Amino acid sequence: TIGNSTNIMWHGCPVDKVERQKLLKQKGCVIWITGLSGSGKSSVACALSQSLYSRGKLSYILDGDNVRHGLNRDLSFKAEDRAENIRRVGEVAKLFADAGLICIASLISPYRRDRDACRALVPEGSFIEVFMDVPLQVCEARDPKGLYKLARAGKIQGFTGIHDPYEPPLNCEV
Ligand code: PPS
Repeated sequence: TIGNSTNIMWHGCPVDKVERQKLLKQKGCVIWITGLSGSGKSSVACALSQSLYSRGKLSYILDGDNVRHGLNRDLSFKAEDRAENIRRVGEVAKLFADAGLICIASLISPYRRDRDACRALVPEGSFIEVFMDVPLQVCEARDPKGLYKLARAGKIQGFTGIHDPYEPPLNCEV
């Protein structure tokens, strides 16, 4: 059963993942960058994408801030909505990886369970979890968007690291 229907069938096509990988001369995968706001996720995602591009490898960045402008514009920062945010991005990342792209997802993704669920969506070995291991004090001192200041002043509710939890990975690849 999918959703509430039993009448949804999978449809395959001979131009499959293997054929796409041959065409693109690369293997799709998901590189999942997690960490506090201001830890450098987006900068690392961008530097990585540029480095791959210069070596002829096609990547695509799914950045939390950006995805929340469109696909996930209906979601807040409460735990259920963060879970749905991560679930949707995980599903999109799975599609991009299947398309043959190196998909770089860069989101706070504060809950271990949500990140692990994304890992479980893709084939073993094709999910690379990258933890931006930057202490809160350093992120707060950088405060590139002035959000920590607003959070401390009570002008943003549920800010990760201040009022909301961040669960660091236990077994990340990087
Ligand atoms: S999450 O937790 O994975 O759903 O967050 P994400 O989609 O990556 O979005 C994080 C960016 O949203 C801004 N922002 C907040 N972050 C954390 N907590 C609260 N309450 C919040 N409100 C707005 C902030 O700019 C985050 O961007 P980054 O790039 O992480 O600094």
